[in-house]
Amino acid sequence: MGTGVLTAEAPPFPRRGGVLHCGAHSLEGLAEQHKTPLYVYNGNRIVERLHTLEETFADRRGDVPGSTFISAATTRTSTPSPFQHPSPDPLVAYSVKANPNLAILRLLARAGAGADIVSGGELYRALRAGIPAHRIVFAGVGKSRDEMRYAIEAGIMSFHVESAQELEVLGALAAEMGAVAPVAVRVNPDVRSPTHEFTRTGHATAKFGVSPREAHDMYRRVAAHPALRAVGVDVHIGSQIRDPAPFLRALDVVLAVADRARRELGVELGYVDLGGGFGISDGAGDALDVHALGRQVATRLRGRGLTLIIEPGRFLVGDAGVLITQVLYVKKSDKKTFVVTDAGMTELIRPSHYGGVHSVTPVRENGQDPVELVDIVGPVCEQGDFLARDRPLPLPRPGALLCVHQAGAYGFTMASNYNSRPRPAEVLVHGDHVTLARRRERFDDLIRGEPHA
Ligand code: LLP
Repeated sequence: MGTGVLTAEAPPFPRRGGVLHCGAHSLEGLAEQHKTPLYVYNGNRIVERLHTLEETFADRRGDVPGSTFISAATTRTSTPSPFQHPSPDPLVAYSVKANPNLAILRLLARAGAGADIVSGGELYRALRAGIPAHRIVFAGVGKSRDEMRYAIEAGIMSFHVESAQELEVLGALAAEMGAVAPVAVRVNPDVRSPTHEFTRTGHATAKFGVSPREAHDMYRRVAAHPALRAVGVDVHIGSQIRDPAPFLRALDVVLAVADRARRELGVELGYVDLGGGFGISDGAGDALDVHALGRQVATRLRGRGLTLIIEPGRFLVGDAGVLITQVLYVKKSDKKTFVVTDAGMTELIRPSHYGGVHSVTPVRENGQDPVELVDIVGPVCEQGDFLARDRPLPLPRPGALLCVHQAGAYGFTMASNYNSRPRPAEVLVHGDHVTLARRRERFDDLIRGEPHA
C-alpha cells in the first residue's frame, strides 16, 4: 500500500438506497432488532486500519540491525517469556481505553495487535481477550502496588514509569517478588499539541511523564537496580492531533534521551514508543496524514536498532463505530429548535465534555425534509446534555433514527448510568456476522451490588 491508502478507504457506514449500512446490514434493521440507543462497530474497518498503520510505520528498507530485543517481566522461578521484536515492523499496541469491549479486543488480538493499558482492569480485559502479555505496555501516573504485582505476575512487556517514586515502588516490589520488571521511562517532551486542553499531555505542566533530565536520572537508577531493567523509552503527547509536527518534535526529544542513556550510562534501549493520538476526520476537521508522519518517523529511526511501538486508540476504532439514536420529540421554541433524542451525554459525553464534534446524519435520507439549524439534545437533566449544537439537519420526525458518527472511540467506554439510565447495547459487524458485543443493561443491572436491593 502506498500513500493513497487513506483516500482509498471505503466509508465504514455507506449509504445504500438512502439508508446507512454496516457491511451487508442496514442500520435500520440493526436498530429494530437491538433497539436504541445502540452502538454499532464495523470490525472490518478496525482490522483494515490496524494494517494501514502497520504498513505505514514499517521501515521497508529493512536496514535496521537485527538486534534481538527481548522483554517481559520475568520471575526467577518461572520460565522467562521472551519477546523478540527486533524488526523494522512496528508493534501496534492498541490503546484499550478507547474501546475496551472484549469483542473488539479479540478481533485485534487475532490480527496481531498488542495493548497499551492504564489499569489492572484493562490488563484483565486484554489478557481475557487473548492479547499476549509480552505485547502489553502499562502507562499511567497512578499505578497501585496491586496493579504492578498483577502485571509483573502476568509477564507484561514493560511498565511506562511516570515518576521517580513510582520507579522506587516498582523496584522494591519486583525485588520482593524475585522478579525483574522491564521499564521504559515516559518522557514529558514539553511539546504543545494542538488539541483540546483536556487531551493534551505533552507540555511541561501536564501531570504526565518526567523531564528528559529526570528521565536520565531514572535510567541511571534502573541500571543500578537488580530488579529493574531498562527496555525502552516512551512518550505520548495527547489525543486527536491532526498535525505531524508535534509528534516529530516529541520523537526527537525521546531519541535524544535514548542516545544520552547509551552514551553516558551504557544503557541500550530496545524500543521507542511514540504513543497514540493520531487524529481522525470528524465533524470538525481532517485526519492526521499518518503516511507523512510514518515516513518521517521511519526515516528518523533508520539504523538505530530501535523497535517502534505506537499506541493508537481512536485511529483504530473511532470512525469504525456509530451511535444510533431515535428521535423522541422535536421541540420548537421562539429561539431554537431542539431535536430530543433517546441518547445523550450518558451514552456519548464527548460533545459536552471536550466540545467534540461528531457528524450526525439521518439513518434514512429521503431528500425532502427541510434542513434547519437544530440542537440535538438528550433526555438527561443537565443543560450540558447535548450531542450537537447549531447543526444543520434535515428536520426529522419523532421515531426517526439518527446516526452519530465517529463514536467508536471514547463512546461507550465513557458512558454512565447517570439519571439511572441503563447503558446501551453494542453490536459488532464483522464480515457477514453480527455479534452482540454487550447486551443492553436492564433496571436490575442498575442496583446490582447495592446491598439494599
Ligand atoms: N497512549 C496513552 C498513554 C494515552 O493516554 C492515550 C489516550 C492513548 C495512547 C491513545 O490516544 P488516541 O490514539 O486514542 O488518541 N477521552 C478523550 C481522549 C482521551 C485520551 C486519553 N489517552 C476524548 O474523547 O477525546
